[in-house]
Amino acid sequence: MITSKTIARFRDLPTPFYFYDLDVLHSTCQKVLEESGKAGFKVHYAVKANPNPRILKIISSYGFGADCVSYNEIERAISCGFEHSETVFAGVGKTDRDIEAALEADILCYNCESIPEMEVINSIAKKHNKVATIALRINPYIEAHTHKYITTGVAESKFGVNTWELKEVLERLKSLQNLNLKGIHFHIGSQITKMSVFKSLCSRINDLQELISSQNIDLEIINVGGGLGIDYGNPEKAPRFEEYFSLIREFVKLRPDQKLHFEPGRSLVGQCGSLISKVLYIKSGSNTTFAIIDAGMTDLIRPALYQAVHKIENLTSNGKAVRYDVVGPVCESADSFAKYIELPETRRGDLIAIRSAGAYGEAMASRYNLRDLPGVVFSDEI
Ligand code: LLP
Repeated sequence: MITSKTIARFRDLPTPFYFYDLDVLHSTCQKVLEESGKAGFKVHYAVKANPNPRILKIISSYGFGADCVSYNEIERAISCGFEHSETVFAGVGKTDRDIEAALEADILCYNCESIPEMEVINSIAKKHNKVATIALRINPYIEAHTHKYITTGVAESKFGVNTWELKEVLERLKSLQNLNLKGIHFHIGSQITKMSVFKSLCSRINDLQELISSQNIDLEIINVGGGLGIDYGNPEKAPRFEEYFSLIREFVKLRPDQKLHFEPGRSLVGQCGSLISKVLYIKSGSNTTFAIIDAGMTDLIRPALYQAVHKIENLTSNGKAVRYDVVGPVCESADSFAKYIELPETRRGDLIAIRSAGAYGEAMASRYNLRDLPGVVFSDEI
């Protein structure tokens, strides 16, 4: 929680910085552990959402595995306590170097997305005299009803093998001796808030299981990916884990000895982070008043890239409500966090919190304009 004591401490710190509330992170992990544990599900945290080492160490301490998309992520995850044998490697464009390094690290599974990729992994594994365990990522053609840039399971998506080529892929796999197919993998998008989307995914999985077992292939792992959304309008609200896990438990028809795997990213870390910034100037526009803050799209790109709406609070004013466009200092009109929102009357030096920024915030920060990267402050440090 951002209390008045925390705000007093914020005043002495250089802005902008990410503030991570570790109590929120712990309680979210605990909830995921309980809810997924009830059904015997295995959770691999999607490291890309927030690879900060302290965050990773906390998440790994709950016994979750890691879902990585580069060798650098695998290395970071293992160094922060994740087991190599509980690390999966996804991504539509794995490099030879990444594949080779992952093989050496002896990870649990590669999530494969095409025949050419399977052939490369097979030949690298052969060279090293190893057998790589894989899960086949399948594009299930399900509209995720989220922003188009984070929709990943429809006809125009680059991800996964197409259902119409599935038989050919399974046939090709028979001759790839250094691959061992253990499962199927899906990830249809991110920030999914309609539970009916996950229900559609479950029924598609059931149909695909029929098709695959008709080829006399037994699968041990059904991986439903990540995607559970959070309520950006309500930063104190926990994600709907109970509803999500119980829906999947109810609708996916698991065969004996099959295990369900999950890869949540945002829902684990989104609500524990806020981007804290200071107001530089209040400036009149023709139709609006701008609050120009010292955080920009380089610190949090989500509003500029996905038109994402994060709740914004002025932590240090309780004046009368006034409307502002809250914008950053970067030389692009996309560098805007919110248009025409109500804040208590705001002045230079006020502290602004951009909430629910723990996922894909710090992780996507850049040095565009040669700006400094944002700082990081944990709740137990102040
Ligand atoms: N598994 C795979 C294969 C993924 O590609 C992703 C996210 C996840 C799991 C985790 O999904 P989550 O539970 O976090 O929704 N930068 C964007 C989100 C990109 C998501 C990329 N893939 C944003 O800020 O909204």
